[in-house]
Amino acid sequence: MKTLLLNPGPVTLTERVRRSLLQPDLCHRESEFYDLQDEARSRLLDVYGLAPDDWSAVLMTASGTGAVESMIASLVPQDGKLLVVQNGVYGERIANIAKQYGIAYETIVHDWMSAPDLGVIAGRLQAQGPFSHVAVVHHETTTGRLNDLAELGALCRAHGARLLVDAVSSFGAEAIDFDEGNIAAVAATANKCLHGVPGASFVVAHREAIARAASRTYYLDLARLARMQAQRNTPFTPSVHAYYALVEALREFEDEGGVSARHERYAALAEQVRSGLASRGVAPVIAPEQSSVVLRSYDLPSGIAYEPLHDALKAQGFVIYAGQGDLSKRLFRVSTMGDLHAADIERLMRAFDGVMR
Ligand SMILES: Cc1ncc(COP(=O)(O)O)c(C=O)c1O
Repeated sequence: MKTLLLNPGPVTLTERVRRSLLQPDLCHRESEFYDLQDEARSRLLDVYGLAPDDWSAVLMTASGTGAVESMIASLVPQDGKLLVVQNGVYGERIANIAKQYGIAYETIVHDWMSAPDLGVIAGRLQAQGPFSHVAVVHHETTTGRLNDLAELGALCRAHGARLLVDAVSSFGAEAIDFDEGNIAAVAATANKCLHGVPGASFVVAHREAIARAASRTYYLDLARLARMQAQRNTPFTPSVHAYYALVEALREFEDEGGVSARHERYAALAEQVRSGLASRGVAPVIAPEQSSVVLRSYDLPSGIAYEPLHDALKAQGFVIYAGQGDLSKRLFRVSTMGDLHAADIERLMRAFDGVMR
């Protein structure tokens, strides 16, 4: 029995991406590697139709956190100040990164179930500013909430700050308006909505932001990575196989119709999960219109703790995901990323029936 991953990455691979890992051994100092790197970088810009004159996709060998760390440590200038909007684990992580690097920063901490409060954010931008940057998680995977980038971007524009976005669990599946959204950069990873494998992550940054970058970190120095990749070079040994998979995943992504098609596909699967669970008395913790299509959180069925639910579903070939922190007792999460289809969700619902009987 094939196990399907309903956790938020790594995802169930398509056979096309899995086979791409078996390509020839490749030295990262050979032209074939730089062709691969160039294709990955240009296809990443194509995901959101970005102009290469304005934007640069910078690859790195790291998990999603590496890309977020690179973005925060590099793109807040030495004399800059960061406001971190938090409503979950990954917003907290951004603040921890800022602290680690000694960046001047402040936080606005929301309850994990709440949307960012624009009134409070506007007040803070006004009172404690000027802030050069505001950081936010687009899809807060802690709960499945999709934070509204357009509203926050407009607020930032009004206060002269630029947005730094953790789009680790939304890039490729949710709309991001790079040009209108007052965005300086977006950090993301290969192994979530793009359907690659772990080990490759990236920052899509505005060229002006890279030009003003600070150099606080050695390995994750975004300006150096950008400069060397533009010269068909790389400072370190990259995860060549993860890059093979990323490029194949991006080709497949384009063949399947790009961001809007992936959004529609996830939306249909997420709705199938929601309505299937609703008919079994299991409710989402956040309203669908405030949630991503990528992952949603559900209250645990009454009388069933997470571990037995997880173990029973795993025995039937489905890996669901626990809540984080205090939420672990209350909810479970289901992601619809990867090589998943309507028939898989039907089987998942039958597996739930078995557990809940
Ligand atoms: C929004 C968000 N940011 C950052 C991360 C961290 O990514 P990684 O575990 O690949 O470092 C995750 C992982 O789930 C995430 O969902």
